[in-house]
Formats: sequence, structure tokens, C-alpha cells
Amino acid sequence: SLWNKNNYVWGIGLLFSLCLMGVVPSCDGGNILVLPLDGSHWINIQVQLDELHSHGHKLTIIRSSGSWYIKEQSHMYSVINIPSQINLKEFFGGFLERQMQVLEGGSALVFLTYDFISLLLTLHEMWHNDLIYLLNNTTLLKELRDAKYDLLLTDPGVATGVILAKYLNLPLVLNARWFLAMDGHFALAPSPVSYIPLTGSGFTDKMDFFQRVKNVFYYSVAQAHQYLVTPGYNAICEKYVEDGCDVISLIQDADIWLFRSDFVFDFPRPTMPNVIYIGGYSCKPSKPLSAELEDFMQSAGEHGVIVMTLGSVVNALPIKLAEEIASVFAKLPQKVIWRHIGARPSTVGNNTLIVDWMPQKDLLGHPQTKVFVAHGGTNGVQEAIYHGVPVLGIPLFFDQFDNLLRLQARGAGTIIRLNELNGETFEQGLRELLHQEHYRDNMQRLSRLHRDQPLSPMDQAVFWVEYVIRHKGAAHLRTQAYKMPWYSYYCVDVLLLLLSAVIGTVLCVVALFRFLCCRNRTKIKQQ
Ligand SMILES: *[C@@H]1O[C@H](CO)[C@@H](O)[C@H](O)[C@H]1NC(C)=O
Ligand SMILES: *[C@@H]1O[C@H](CO)[C@@H](O)[C@H](O)[C@H]1NC(C)=O
Ligand SMILES: *[C@@H]1O[C@H](CO)[C@@H](O)[C@H](O)[C@H]1NC(C)=O
Repeated sequence: SLWNKNNYVWGIGLLFSLCLMGVVPSCDGGNILVLPLDGSHWINIQVQLDELHSHGHKLTIIRSSGSWYIKEQSHMYSVINIPSQINLKEFFGGFLERQMQVLEGGSALVFLTYDFISLLLTLHEMWHNDLIYLLNNTTLLKELRDAKYDLLLTDPGVATGVILAKYLNLPLVLNARWFLAMDGHFALAPSPVSYIPLTGSGFTDKMDFFQRVKNVFYYSVAQAHQYLVTPGYNAICEKYVEDGCDVISLIQDADIWLFRSDFVFDFPRPTMPNVIYIGGYSCKPSKPLSAELEDFMQSAGEHGVIVMTLGSVVNALPIKLAEEIASVFAKLPQKVIWRHIGARPSTVGNNTLIVDWMPQKDLLGHPQTKVFVAHGGTNGVQEAIYHGVPVLGIPLFFDQFDNLLRLQARGAGTIIRLNELNGETFEQGLRELLHQEHYRDNMQRLSRLHRDQPLSPMDQAVFWVEYVIRHKGAAHLRTQAYKMPWYSYYCVDVLLLLLSAVIGTVLCVVALFRFLCCRNRTKIKQQ
């Protein structure tokens, strides 16, 4: 009957749409092993994993059983647990406490030299243990081999994933901005330090003579740090992995670098064909706010709203500072949403809403948001660029100052250093951003430039992972540079040859002239 026929057609239609929705394509989706970094790097890579999952790829995550951010249960992935050595959360907690003591007048130098280096070395030691566990457990290794992964996706901030990829002989895709402690480009592409500022230097791409001197110094420090960190990994690698285990070479061998940056954000510099810029890939158009928040935003009227957060890892500002900031906010005609954890300052005005969590992306995308007060983590800065909101930066540590500097250099934000932060400087900075139109104009320009791309950063991130799966790697994009000894790379051998040829020629000519002169002289004498 007609009804039955319709049902039949409808059934096929349903089946077809189910296929389209990903039920069937998942069969030819890839099988991806992921070794992420915990903490804010996980928040970063998680967005990409979400997208890969929705494209039908099967994901397996290697995580520490005591992981801070990486959940064991997820519909997106299955996990392989490594027995945990250390509680990263407690660890960072201690680190930040020290940082705040510096704020309250402790010695910054002691903090930098002692705490920072000991933090990094302890962390690397922990990662060494993870690596040893992975490479020493033959049952696990057999399982990993039998699973026939298509590629390994990792963050080269730590070398564990890179070495595991070598051991399992898997194509390697990096979701990266740093390798160990340096900007990833330094492992990859020509990086003249005359116009490429080192992270931590606090310089832009325009450096005067003395800044260049300092930049070279920072470069040596970063190199020294590299030499301090790599031998540990190399030694483990030598022990378990056959033929050649230099961590830097393994990182250079990666098939694709998905780089969490772009040249709207960063200063232009040389790069390589296997580097794909996915800066801002986690940004999305904002979603509507909850009714209460929307009411709050609208109640600000023409003055607009200031949004403030110092990130997910800072729990409490020193109370004195929090009080000063709160009283500055209280003076302003704007409304304020402030993500603040810890004791509520007594000076909070009735225009300030204190929250312990906020939908940051959606707030930044709201037309009422005028200024973003932030610590300068990569995500926050990229979201501010995406939504075109000028930033008042209060950098705390790591790369945050340098991230904010890239906005300041484009006239899209200003920075207040921690040691200069007080009510007066804070108020001055806020008023500047609120009342000088050019900050907003510049930021909106960055936003337009960032969005004007043929393929969105996230689509690129997914495309290139699938590209590596389809072609079983991307070795054809890798330059020969990494295989060359330094004297060939810089053509020192060629220069030597040319130089000796020139010197040889000059000597020959000189000898010839001498010979001719002498003969002439003897002739003259004879006459
Ligand atoms: C490696 O595994 C073996 C056997 O499981 C164990 O006896 C040995 O202690 C492990 N080595 C390390 C360094 O963990
Ligand atoms: C090795 O890995 C397997 C599979 O993940 C696990 O069941 C086993 O407990 C591990 N062995 C050791 C010594 O940790
Ligand atoms: C908020 O505080 C200001 C000054 O303290 C006062 O003038 C104003 O009426 C208050 N507004 C509300 C809604 O309570």
C-alpha cells in the first residue's frame, strides 16, 4: 500500500541521514593516539579533540591517573592510565603561592632562579617517570602496537609523546606552541634573533642595539635550558628505543605542526611548509547569555561592561590588591563582571558582580563588553582578538607578558606589570582603554584580519590531521635542513673552498706578476 511504501522510503531516508550524521563515516574515521599535557594545554587541545571526535575519529588518551584536568570518563575518548607520580594541582598551587609572595614583596630574583628552575626540573623528572613506565611495560606496548593507530597527536612541551611516536613508528602531529621551553619555530625554521624576540625577553620585533644584545643573552639562556632538559629524555630513549634518540631531531621529524598562533597575533618570521597556523581555533561565535547575566549586561546601558579574570590557575589575589581593584571598579559608571576566587573584598561596589565562573567566550562576544581585564593566557588573548575587545593585561608568569605585548604593540591593549599594579595605575589603565577609541578600533581591525581566512583555523586543524592519516605522514613537507651538519647548513665548507680558490688565484697572479717584473728588470739591467 501507499502508506507502507512511504514508510519504506522514509526508513531509507532515516538510514541515509544517520549515515550522514556520522554513524557510518565513523568506520573510515582514523584511530588516533593522543598524549596531551595537563593543565591549560589540555583545555587547548580538548577543543580539537572534540572536533576530531565529531568527524568520526576514534581517540585514545594517555593520561596520568592523578590528572588535574583530563577526565577519565568521556564519551569522546577512551583512556590509558599511567600511575601518577605527583599531584600537579598541588604542585602548581605551591608555585603560585610563591608567586604571590613575590607580589607582596618577596625577592623576584630568588623566585625566578630557584623556584622556576626547580619547578621545571621536578616536572620533567615526573614526565621521565611517565616515559619509563610507558616504555618498560611490555604488555602495554604490545597493546599499543596491536591497536594500529594512524598517528600520534601530542604537545611537544614535553618530549614523552615524541619519543613514544618514534618507538611505535607512528606519524606524528604536534599541537604546539612550545617545544620544551622555547618557541617551536626555533626548532624548525631560520630564527634570526636580530628581529625575533625570545619569549620572556619582553621585546617586540623592533629592537634597538642594547635590546638585541639582551635578546642574544636570552637566547643563550634558553639554549642552556634546552641542554639541561634534553639529556634526561635522550638517556631514557637510548635505553628503550633503537637507532638514534636525539629529542630535538625527533621533534624536527614531526609530520605536521599545528601551531597555536598566527601572524595577526605574532610578529612575522620565517616558517616551514609543514607548519599550519591554527591560532584562535577554539574561538566560536558567542552563544546567548543566561537571563540574569543578559539583564546585568543590559543594565549597564551606554557605559557598557568590564569583564575581568586572571585565569583558571590563580586562586586569590593578595587581599590588599583585591580591595584596591574593587574600589576602582566601584568608582566607575560601567558595570563589572569579575571572576574572583577567595575572600570577597569589602570595597566591592554595587556595580560589580563577583562570580567564581563565567562564560568568558560568550561575555567577550557580547556587544556591551567594552574592556577585558586579563592575565594574558593564550586562550584569553585569542578570544579577545576574535571578538575585538581591547585588553588591559596583568601578566602573571610564563609567556603571558609576551602575549599581551603583541596586543600592546598593535595599540590594542595596555599592560600593567604586577610590581606596578595598584589602585592608581589600574584606574589610569582602565580609563585609557575605556575612553580612547583607538584601542577598540585597533582590536577590531585585528579581529577582522584574524577572521578573514579561506578556511577556519579549526577546519585546518582537522584537515591536516586527516591529511596525515590519508597519506601516512607528510615527510615530503620536511626540509633537508635538519639532517645537515652545521658547516654544510651555513655553507662554511663552500665558503672555505671559494675562499681558498680566491686566495689561490690571487697568489698565482701575484707570483705571475713577480715573475714578469723580475724578467723585465733583468732585461733592463742587461740593456
Ligand atoms: C621494568 O619492568 C620490569 C618488569 O616488569 C621491572 O622489574 C623493572 O623494575 C622495571 N624497570 C623500571 C626502571 O621501572
Ligand atoms: C602494564 O600495562 C598493563 C596494561 O595497561 C597493566 O594492566 C599493567 O598493570 C601494567 N603493568 C605494570 C607493572 O604496571
Ligand atoms: C550604588 O551605589 C551608588 C553610590 O554608592 C548609589 O548612588 C546608587 O544609588 C547605588 N545603586 C543601587 C542600585 O543601589
